[in-house]
Amino acid sequence: MCGIIGYVGEKEACPLLLSALKRMEYRGYDSSGVVVVGDKARCVKSVGKLDNLKEKLEDLPGGLGLGHNRWATHGVVSEENAHPHTDCKGDIFVVHNGIIENYKELKSKLQEEGHVFVSETDTEVLSHLIEKFFEGDLESAVKKALKLVKGAYGVVAATGSDPYKIVAARMFSPLVVSVNSSGGFVASDPTALISHSREMVFLEDEEVAVISKDDFYITDLDNVAVEKEKTEIDWSIEDAQKGGYDHFMLKEICQQGESLENSIRGRLDLEEGRAVLGGVEDKKEEIIRAKKVSIIACGTSYYAGMVGECMIEEMAGVPVEVHLASEFKYKKQPLEEGEIFIFISQSGETAYTLASLREVKEKGGLTLGIVNVVGSSVARETHAGIYNHAGPEIGVASTKAFTSQSIILALFALYMGRNKGMSFEEGVNFAKEIKRIPRIADEILESKEEISEIAKKYKDYSNFLYLGRKYSYPVALEGALKLKEISYIHAEGYSAGEMKHGPIALIEESFPTFAVCPQSSVYGKMLSNIEEIKARRGKMVALGTRGDDEIAEMVDDVIYMPEVLEQLSSIVSVIPLQIFSYYVALYKGLDVDKPRNLSKCVSVE
Ligand code: AGP
Repeated sequence: MCGIIGYVGEKEACPLLLSALKRMEYRGYDSSGVVVVGDKARCVKSVGKLDNLKEKLEDLPGGLGLGHNRWATHGVVSEENAHPHTDCKGDIFVVHNGIIENYKELKSKLQEEGHVFVSETDTEVLSHLIEKFFEGDLESAVKKALKLVKGAYGVVAATGSDPYKIVAARMFSPLVVSVNSSGGFVASDPTALISHSREMVFLEDEEVAVISKDDFYITDLDNVAVEKEKTEIDWSIEDAQKGGYDHFMLKEICQQGESLENSIRGRLDLEEGRAVLGGVEDKKEEIIRAKKVSIIACGTSYYAGMVGECMIEEMAGVPVEVHLASEFKYKKQPLEEGEIFIFISQSGETAYTLASLREVKEKGGLTLGIVNVVGSSVARETHAGIYNHAGPEIGVASTKAFTSQSIILALFALYMGRNKGMSFEEGVNFAKEIKRIPRIADEILESKEEISEIAKKYKDYSNFLYLGRKYSYPVALEGALKLKEISYIHAEGYSAGEMKHGPIALIEESFPTFAVCPQSSVYGKMLSNIEEIKARRGKMVALGTRGDDEIAEMVDDVIYMPEVLEQLSSIVSVIPLQIFSYYVALYKGLDVDKPRNLSKCVSVE
């Protein structure tokens, strides 16, 4: 999510840091900063684009430096929250990518020991923790500090007291090392280093690299040496920004195991069967007393809201109404006693969602946000909220945002449910099933090639009908949106129960149907719909549960997914539909990442 760069060598560090940060700009950022150590350490930070930082920079002499593009996860967008972060003495510097789950507990202990914090971030805990253990040996202090840390980090540390080395460590968040003729580098992304060398070493979890201007070594947290192979990067810069994927959309589809993991990280209490949602804890009383939940969003986020409707009603027993923000803004619907509002927005800047939020606040309603971009308008203007932590979504067609929003709604349903009568056992079981979801997503992603073969067969059709029921109905709608917005094929999502009320008139050989039909409480009803379509010679692709031979007999092509709890199925059943749409558009030779007429953020009404 964030861009990280560290350099130590004979060259001036500052220009090297800035060009590396520029290369990593696509990863998303809301602020940036550098520290350069020469005769003394100089640290400069800025909010906004990287150019804002450049404008602030005077001469920063020195051969040791760290740089950072922040994609905020904790704390608003501000200079204080921008990296690098330092210790109390301003002598230890840290840049970090990831989420320190136990930062609150560590922070309060450090404050009791007299450490003074200046930011709201989780990262600053690392600089003070290293300070606590630092007695001149940075490597040892970093290792001792990280042994106390829970969560994800790609962290790079340096100190003015020893300006000849940088120490980097990885847990879940990527780091790559390169020592070459320009000096010693570490970065969160190969893109930043390719211009210096294509030979790199990728750190694995629990590995610590100590880098000097002409050498480096790697150990684990217990000082056991680790021998690493060098990797020859044969990507272009553009490719590297996509992590070797052909498109950002494909990268973001394939990242969903990781992004789902990040969305639930630190938010599931498996022992108590509860969700831990710190961002809404201040509003807990109003949430658990709620008599109605209204969800307001646009596009893909609206369909995620429909997933949340099924989950919250079933798991918490609270009625839910989902509104298109562009309609809600003009409704004259009075607020009901005990009604709370959830605004879902990946960008946090969608005009109608924001306008509806302001309407509700005007009327005194409680507003909660489910937002990916930290510090965005919806995030700032809601009373409380839950960040996706899905990382920047660059592809215009939303993919990992939908699955992240859906799993967060599952957490919210658990949060409400366990405060409204869901039993301990039900809570423990539901939490366990939520925990499984990221790995199920990874399993589904392994069938990419098979799905691409099926997509090839359907790329020339002009129309498509997507059908689903209950939890699969919003998935059918989202699948249809994916296909239409990147392949320009007219695709319509429909509740399968509505077929006989009109749409079945469309069915003929040239009008295929995609049936979202995992094992569920409405599976039998779906089979009837499939029969009706086959009777009219309609071509059919079905998404089914692995082992379901019956559906394979009935349709032309079947895509299988692992068995998953019905209440959580929408989170992962959408992934094959994302992949299907991606390959249809690809085979049609279209611009998958930047479809015609669309923009990533609809910030105008
Ligand atoms: C979905 O692929 C589209 N990019 C679009 O429908 C999007 O979901 C919608 O504009 C809402 O955006 P938001 O989540 O940033 O508010």
